[in-house]
Amino acid sequence: MNGWLKDREHLARMAVIFAGALVLFLVVRAVMVPNGFGTYGHFRSGALKDNASHPLSYAGRQACGDCHDDIVASRKGSKHERIGCEACHGPLSVHADDPDKMKPVLPDAKTICLTCHLENVTKPKSFPQIDPAEHGDGGPCTSCHNPHHPEIS
Ligand code: HEC
Ligand code: HEC
Ligand code: HEC
Ligand code: HEC
Repeated sequence: MNGWLKDREHLARMAVIFAGALVLFLVVRAVMVPNGFGTYGHFRSGALKDNASHPLSYAGRQACGDCHDDIVASRKGSKHERIGCEACHGPLSVHADDPDKMKPVLPDAKTICLTCHLENVTKPKSFPQIDPAEHGDGGPCTSCHNPHHPEIS
């Protein structure tokens, strides 16, 4: 018997298995990879169109001011002046498009105030924060603070 040729049957079997696996891989890949993949990069190009077609949830603060200029005016000079309306009122583009279609539910002041102002050592010391158990006698925040101009002077 001479050298490596005595093992050629093993090699042939291995080659068939590899070729089969390669064909299987190519078939699965062709089925699984979606159209448009790789056109712009490592993602499906149609994803851009899908995302752009989602309806907008937020109207943006400019829109609120078109109809609620009294609120915008009442915030002037306050530390809350630059907080987006929808940060507290939630996404309201349906309301802004047509106020008759959807009347916003007013946010619960205590819940919304404490999401930002609840005392927490991880917040910067300069940020105003309170412990509701020791502040304001447990009363509703809005009995002393106007949410649109919260400073008490
Ligand atoms: C096209 C005009 C218009 C736009 C734009 C608009 N609103 Fe209104 N909004 C109204 C009207 C009119 C009412 C009163 C609805 C009623 O009483 O049935 C109202 C009511 C509200 C109320 C409830 C008031 C209450 O007393 O219960 C809130 C809160 C509010 N709007 C917030 C917003 C915010 C925040 C935005 C911006 C995302 C916004 N609105 C954009 C016209 C508008
Ligand atoms: C810091 C949170 C916060 C921000 C920011 C905020 N609001 Fe309010 N808003 C409230 C809360 C809380 C109430 C409910 C007050 C109550 O229960 O008496 C309210 C009430 C209202 C009302 C109905 C009562 C009223 O005062 O006439 C309107 C309308 C309104 N907000 C519009 C706006 C608009 C428009 C903006 C942006 C220019 C805005 N809000 C920004 C928290 C906020
Ligand atoms: C989205 C976050 C956010 C919410 C919600 C929020 N605030 Fe504020 N508040 C701020 C920021 C930011 C400032 C300015 C902080 C600064 O100047 O460092 C501020 C400032 C204040 C101040 C002035 C503090 C001072 O040092 O003069 C008061 C009082 C206040 N808020 C009360 C409230 C009340 C009451 C509510 C609920 C109706 C509320 N805030 C809801 C973010 C928030
Ligand atoms: C009984 C009236 C009263 C009630 C109720 C009340 N506050 Fe105040 N709050 C005050 C007064 C007065 C001040 C300003 C004096 C001071 O700095 O303590 C103040 C100051 C603040 C400040 C600024 C603190 C700082 O370090 O500058 C924040 C934030 C605040 N309140 C949030 C709230 C929140 C949130 C609620 C509801 C859980 C609430 N307050 C309820 C009277 C009240």
